[in-house]
Amino acid sequence: MKKLYIVGNWKSNKTESETISWFQRLMINDLRFTNKEIIVCPSFTMLPILKSLIINHKSSIKLGAQDISPFEDGPYTGEVNGKQIKEFADYVIIGHSERRSHFGEEEGMVNKKLEMGFKYGLIPILCVSDTTQLQTINHEPITNNLIVAYEPLFAIGTGSPDTPENADSIAFTIKKELGNVLALYGGSVKETNVNSFTSKSNIDGILVGGASLDPKEFVNIIHNA
Ligand code: PGA
Repeated sequence: MKKLYIVGNWKSNKTESETISWFQRLMINDLRFTNKEIIVCPSFTMLPILKSLIINHKSSIKLGAQDISPFEDGPYTGEVNGKQIKEFADYVIIGHSERRSHFGEEEGMVNKKLEMGFKYGLIPILCVSDTTQLQTINHEPITNNLIVAYEPLFAIGTGSPDTPENADSIAFTIKKELGNVLALYGGSVKETNVNSFTSKSNIDGILVGGASLDPKEFVNIIHNA
């Protein structure tokens, strides 16, 4: 049975008390799976508290950051660099469409961030909204540890996901173009539709935004995946 990657992207949501309450409600459930990697990507400020909660509960949940500085440490006000992220997280989301559209991130920036992720031993979860964005990825450093998430713009936060058939065919193209990478689908994934994506042969998991904020729904997504 293939291993599934279930990634929750909290975006710019949750205070510390909300994070603690979310985690405690999640822990009521039995989440010990051998074939499911559960990854939570909160705001940077919530990484330390989540790391402590995970250690205290001996949970197997993994952490990811939502972004990474394109630079090393140094005079880059406001940036959080790879070395700092690696103290808390194993994964990092790079090139999310919200960063491309609201913060003007383009291919050069995305490639620098990828390079930093690889350099500091983080597994990048690279988001692309269509297959043309695959052409702009710097192929050089790509080895085994890359996850690519196909997230079509029309599906993000709209309640209208892509069809599982199309998502599967894009996942196939991602693997054909980039080689040995994992391919996820993201965009309006819910507890009721998650299995239609994860049951497809080329899809290795899902990236969930809005529905990951509610612990009950996120648990149901994990179980139904
Ligand atoms: P959504 O967002 O699940 O709320 O559609 C997905 C994402 O942007 O990663």
